Amino acid sequence: MQATRSSAPAKVILFGEHFVVEGQPAIAAAISLRAHVTVEPADTDGILVYSKNLGLLEEYRFAERGAWSGKMLSIAIAAYTAMESLGRKSGVKVTVDSEIPPGSGMGSSAAVAVATTHATFRAFGEEPDLKEVSRIAFEAEKVVHGKPSGIDNTVATYGGVIAYRKGEGFIPLKAELNGVRLVLADSGVPRNTGEMVKRVLELKNTYPSVLEPLYHAAGRLVVEAARRLEEGDYESLGRLMNVNHGFLSAIGVSTLELEKLVYTARRAGALGSKLTGAGGGGFIVALVTAEKEKEVVEALRQLSPRIFSVEISSEGVRKEPL
Ligand code: MEV
Repeated sequence: MQATRSSAPAKVILFGEHFVVEGQPAIAAAISLRAHVTVEPADTDGILVYSKNLGLLEEYRFAERGAWSGKMLSIAIAAYTAMESLGRKSGVKVTVDSEIPPGSGMGSSAAVAVATTHATFRAFGEEPDLKEVSRIAFEAEKVVHGKPSGIDNTVATYGGVIAYRKGEGFIPLKAELNGVRLVLADSGVPRNTGEMVKRVLELKNTYPSVLEPLYHAAGRLVVEAARRLEEGDYESLGRLMNVNHGFLSAIGVSTLELEKLVYTARRAGALGSKLTGAGGGGFIVALVTAEKEKEVVEALRQLSPRIFSVEISSEGVRKEPL
């Protein structure tokens, strides 16, 4: 065994969150923030997980596998499942050092799970198979939020911009975002993806005749958006983001804080804006031209504790120097 380091990107869902959980397509982009994970041999009969960001160390002993619990359980599950897949088991320390704000809707947990799996394979001298990396990260994601669609681990593994459909997989989209930027602004309210997904499903199951047409429309919107994205028709893309935000408000995942950010971005000249990820808090994403970027960022700064102007990252999970 050897020490290895891998990283995987954060993501932003451009279209279709929540609707994707029930089989509609969605579009996600990998972005320029990354989670870094080091896996190294350790003198323990289990998995040590250390988060530099949280300043937290947890131990998951192999002998107690059935009773594991902890804040960083999904990371231990990713490392353990990677070892199971290799048919090897050895004491390891997993160190996480992430640029991705947790609880933001930017896919922090998926990026960490993907990077952990990738680094674990490499620590045992195996070349990671990306399909297997994504599958294992998906298992880890289930620990974090019950019923994930699989979009987060897929985009963190492969990078770029993808159209994803549960059960069918993904296709890469040709989207370069020339002359436009994605601005992400934090509502300052943390959110819980699992809880939000449960609430939305409960609403859909209570009023299926009302909600099913909306799910269908959200799916059509994604097909239209994928076409406009590949054509570089950013004006349409912005308008479709606004429509998508309306759908998300309709299913109850927006908040007053998110609405303020969404409307502030639009008023300051964004082509479009919407909440991104599970909602209930977390971030909004605004599509802005290079000329309007400063104005939009300044307007959002009045309301938001954290703003990122991000680029699309064509690279998914990758090895890093130690
Ligand atoms: C979370 O990033 C996006 C949701 O659609 C949940 C999922 O797809 O797993 C809310």
